[in-house]
Amino acid sequence: MLSRRQILQSGTAMLLLPKAVHAAIDDLVAQIVSRQLAPDGYSETSVWSFGGNVPGSEIRLRKGQSVRRRLVNDLPQPATIHWHGIRIVNAMDGVPGLTQDAVQPGHSFTYDFVVPDAGTYWYHAHNRSMEQVARGLYGPLIVEEDNLPDVDQDLTLVLDDWRLAPETGQIVEDFDNQHDLSHAGRLGNLVTVNGQFDPEYAVARGARLRLRLINAANARIFDLGLDGLTGWIVALDGMPLVDPLPVSGNVPLAPAQRMDLIVDVQSDEGQIAGLVSQERGDSFGLVRLAVAGQAAANRTGIRPLPANEMPKVRLDDAPIHRMTLQGGAMRWLDSANLGETELSGRELAQLGRFWALNGYSDRPDEPFLDARLGSAHQIEFVNETAFPHAMHLHGHHFRIILDDGTLGPWRDTILIGRGQTHKIALIADNPGDWLLHCHMLGHSASGMMSWFRVS
Ligand code: C2O
Ligand code: CU
Repeated sequence: MLSRRQILQSGTAMLLLPKAVHAAIDDLVAQIVSRQLAPDGYSETSVWSFGGNVPGSEIRLRKGQSVRRRLVNDLPQPATIHWHGIRIVNAMDGVPGLTQDAVQPGHSFTYDFVVPDAGTYWYHAHNRSMEQVARGLYGPLIVEEDNLPDVDQDLTLVLDDWRLAPETGQIVEDFDNQHDLSHAGRLGNLVTVNGQFDPEYAVARGARLRLRLINAANARIFDLGLDGLTGWIVALDGMPLVDPLPVSGNVPLAPAQRMDLIVDVQSDEGQIAGLVSQERGDSFGLVRLAVAGQAAANRTGIRPLPANEMPKVRLDDAPIHRMTLQGGAMRWLDSANLGETELSGRELAQLGRFWALNGYSDRPDEPFLDARLGSAHQIEFVNETAFPHAMHLHGHHFRIILDDGTLGPWRDTILIGRGQTHKIALIADNPGDWLLHCHMLGHSASGMMSWFRVS
């Protein structure tokens, strides 16, 4: 055995030392715990958690660094972790049956990958995600910029809604509820932020805050508004906007989407500012920001966050691939394919399948798109259903094509309202097999699931 000193003298030290320094792998244990989700007076709720809490342990690192986590599965079901929005190496994407085998109870799997882009991301279970995410298996993944923006506080706010039985405070385990699957998905009856009902944070008057919003809900679209704050959207789905967008009125945040805001606290001392969400004309509070004291600095104006290195999207040589979103209540499927077999809408419903993408009510054998590495593509999503959908691509960000034909912001999840058609454009620059699905998790579980191949 070489001593440390001999290694240092051997000339390979430069290779050996950094490896030793970075070799630490932390466990991320998927386990059942009890947490106080509901307001005081209700009992604790038994949840499934990464690392003993909901949201799961925050992973925070710098752009270009590596996430190394050993998923230890102490749950009664197989599990995996998907690192949502990370332009990740395919083998680490966490999709059972496509990029890895699900990790059986009592077993483990080590995830080890570089995060190429700064921004607000999250991780979540990707096996039986309709159930496992609803039970709490998700957490924030924050990749810091090399130069952090000048703010007084950086607050990660993970939004979720839970379906709890009021008498017991426990999660209602109706994960195959046909009404949820065929309508808007599983909507909860308790909205939490960072696993708490209506939490309060202390802020100073005039303070500048960065709010990192993550929608971890199964199906709820939050229609967000500011109260006692003025602010700008500085990033969407992790990716900085070239021009920060002043917030006026309400901004939708669909399941899996993120939004980074920079806000200035306007309310006076002793008042409560905060974040609200609008639903059917009613407004309810999500987070309370209790104003105490005065911020030291007084800032005006805002600068964009530093851009990530993204490919240049070309439209001229990008073929258009249409993906039609079909089925669901009120527009029931006549028929769709399940693998090689065409089944009637009734037969599919008996199997708990209510939706289809381009006529397939599950991940088809052949990819929706077989792309050459580095090629440009447009996808046109045509929503023929009576519900909104949040379409998500794995392994890539894409640009929304605006109505005037120009390229809009980078995203990894796009909300497509009922009857709407939206086009996106991407460079297929990450080799592998990647999912493309609706992030209303009841919809993907009952048919809205496809994939594309880059090679
Ligand atoms: Cu965040 Cu395939 O999902
Ligand atoms: Cu959907």
